[in-house]
Amino acid sequence: MAKTFREASATNVSDSIKSVLHEERVFNPSDEFSEEARISSLRRYKTLRRLAEKDPEKFWGNIAADLHWFTPWKKLLSWRAPHAKWFTGGKTNLSYNCLDRHLNSWKKTKAAIIWEGEPGDVRTLTYQQLHSEVCKFANGLESLGVKKGDTVGIYMGMVPEAAIAMLACTRIGAVHNVVFGGFSAEALRERMNDSNAKVLITQDGSYRRGGIVELKKAADEAAKKIPTLEHMIVLKRTDNEVMMKRKRDHWWNDLMLNASANHGAARLNSEHPLYILYTSGSTGKPKGIFHTTAGNMLWAYYTTRMVFDIQDDDVYWCSADIGWVTGHSYVVYGPLLNGATTLMYEGAPNWPEPDRFWEVIERHKVSIFYTAPTAIRAFMRWGDEHPQKHDLSSLRLLGTVGEPINPKAWMWYHRLIGGKNCPIVDTWWQTETGGIMISPLPGVTPTKPGSATLPLPGIQADVVRKDGTSCNPDEGGYLVIKHPWPSMLRTLFGDDKRYKETYWSNYKGWYFTGDGARKDKDGYFWVMGRVDDVVNVSGHRLGTAEIESSLVSHRAVVESAVVARPDEIKGNALVAFVTLGSKMKPSAALKETLRSHVGREIGSIAKPDEIRFAEALPKTRSGKIMRRLLREIASTGQVSGDITTLEDFSVLEELREE
Ligand code: WTA
Repeated sequence: MAKTFREASATNVSDSIKSVLHEERVFNPSDEFSEEARISSLRRYKTLRRLAEKDPEKFWGNIAADLHWFTPWKKLLSWRAPHAKWFTGGKTNLSYNCLDRHLNSWKKTKAAIIWEGEPGDVRTLTYQQLHSEVCKFANGLESLGVKKGDTVGIYMGMVPEAAIAMLACTRIGAVHNVVFGGFSAEALRERMNDSNAKVLITQDGSYRRGGIVELKKAADEAAKKIPTLEHMIVLKRTDNEVMMKRKRDHWWNDLMLNASANHGAARLNSEHPLYILYTSGSTGKPKGIFHTTAGNMLWAYYTTRMVFDIQDDDVYWCSADIGWVTGHSYVVYGPLLNGATTLMYEGAPNWPEPDRFWEVIERHKVSIFYTAPTAIRAFMRWGDEHPQKHDLSSLRLLGTVGEPINPKAWMWYHRLIGGKNCPIVDTWWQTETGGIMISPLPGVTPTKPGSATLPLPGIQADVVRKDGTSCNPDEGGYLVIKHPWPSMLRTLFGDDKRYKETYWSNYKGWYFTGDGARKDKDGYFWVMGRVDDVVNVSGHRLGTAEIESSLVSHRAVVESAVVARPDEIKGNALVAFVTLGSKMKPSAALKETLRSHVGREIGSIAKPDEIRFAEALPKTRSGKIMRRLLREIASTGQVSGDITTLEDFSVLEELREE
C-alpha cells in the first residue's frame, strides 16, 4: 500500500530512518519543453555539476558575471567552518541588480509586478515605475533617519508596497526583517526586539477572505514594548480607522509625496547584511536567520533561471506570502533579478469562490505557477470542478515547495492543473539555505512524484548515518550539505553559539539540515520531514516548543506537549496534550479558550487542531517529555515503539483511554 511521507516523518529517528514510501512512476519532460529550455540535456547538467566541483572559481564566476558589480570581487570563498564569506572584495547592490540593470534595455517598459488585490483591483508596475517608487521610498526612509545597517521591520500583506519596501531597504543597505502579516502582536514584538528594529512599515489593514486584518492595530500593540522603535510608516489600503501617534507615525503617501524619484544604490560589500528572517526552532525562541548580500543575490538569480527556466515572455506566479523565505527569494528577488514579470496576489485562494487561483491564472495568462503542497491538498478537497471551469492552457511549468508532496497530490497537480503537459519542479530548500538546493531542472530531469530529485550544480548534498558514513540506496538518514554555498545563512542573528550548535555540531564541517531523507538507486533525494520536534503545518514550520510555551502561559495550564499527526489537507494537524492546574476542570469551553489563546499569542496557524487534557505527560527519567509516544497516540491511538525509558507506565494507559 502506498503510504504518505507524513507517516514517514512521524517515525522517530534513531540511527536511521525507516522509509515507507514506494513510488515507481517516472515522468520525462516533453521534447517540446526540452527543446526550448535553458538547460536541455542531461549532459549539460552533468558538465555544470563537474565544473562546479572541479573549477568553482569559473562556475560561480560565470554566474556572477551576469550581474552588476561596482567593484569586482577578489576572493571567491573564505571558509573557516562554520563561517563563510563569499565574493569578498566585491561591492554590489541587490536593488540595483533587480531594477537599474534593466532600465537601459527594452525591459524598462516591461511589467515587473502584476498585482491583483483580493477585492479584484489590478495594478501593474513596469521596471521604470517600480524603480521610481523604490527610489522615492528609499528617500522617505532616509528622511526618517534610516541608515546603512539599521534594521527595518516590515509587517504587511501582499501588496506591491511590501516589495517596494524590501527593495528600498536593500537599496540603502538597511536590513529588512519581514514578519508574516498573520502573526500576532506578540510574535511581531519579539521579532522586532530581537533584531533591534528602528522603523516598522505596516498598513492600516489587509484584505483577507472579504474581511480586514487590522495590521496597524497589532503593530500599535507590539510597539508598546519595542524600545528601539523610532518610527512607523503606514500604508493606507483598507481605510479602516487607525490611531496615528504624533511624531512616531507617518503615512506612506505623505512620505512619498515630495520625495525624489532618484536615489543612487549604495555600494555595499558582498557580505553586507541583507535580511533577517525569523523561523521557528525546537526551543521556544524563534531563530533569526541572517543572510548577506552578494551570495543571496547570486543564488536567487541563478536558481530562478535554472529551476523555473524563466524566459522573457513568461508570467510567473509564486503564491507564497512575502513573510516567508519563498516570498523573499521567489516572489521578489529571483524574478526581478532575471528581469521577469512576477505576479502578486493579495488574498485567499478561496475568495470569493474556491476557483480564485485558477481565475487569476486565466486572467493574467500565468505560465509558471509555484505553490505549496498544502494548498494543492486544499484544492483537491474543494473539488475538480473549480480548475475545470477555467482555461489553464497558458501554464507551461509547475512548482512546489515547503514540505514533501504526497504522490496523490502530485498526480492531481500534474493532471488537473498541468493538463499532463507541464513538468513539476519539487524544490527542496530552507529559510537557512536562502534558495533552492535540490530540484529537477525542468527541461532535463525525469521526475518521480514525491521526490525533489537531484541537487543543483554547486550543491553537495548527501544522506548520511549518525556516524557520517553515507547511507545505502533507500536507507533513511540525515540530509546534510557537505560544502558551503553562496546563499547559506551566515549565523543566527545575535546568537552564533546557537548557530554552531544547531547546524554544525552533528557533523564536523557539514551543514546539518535537520531533515530526514533517503536517496534511491538513481541518486534521487526523497525528503521525509524534520527529525526534531519542529512541525510543519500547511507548509509552515512551527516550533512545538513555542506553542507549548504559549499554552503554558495560560493560567489554567501546567504543562503541555504539542505534536503533529498526519492530516490530509494540512499535511500535519497539531494535537496539544495539556495538563491542568489542580483546581481547573476540563471542559469543551476551556479547549476553545486555549485554542484562541494560542491564536492571539502566536497567530491562527499555530492554533492546535485538537486539545487533549491529560493527568500527566509521559516523561523520561530525566524529565524530558517523550513526544514520540504522544505522536503515536495522536496518530494511531496506540504505542508500538520502545517505552523502556518511560518513567511512569500508568500515564500511558490513561492517555490511550482518552
Ligand atoms: C521542508 C521553506 C520536502 C523541509 C522553503 C525543510 C520540504 C523545511 C520541501 C524548510 C520539499 C521544504 N520536499 N520537504 N520540496 N521544501 N521542505 O524554512 O523539512 O519554511 O527543512 O523553508 O520545509 O522550511 P522553511
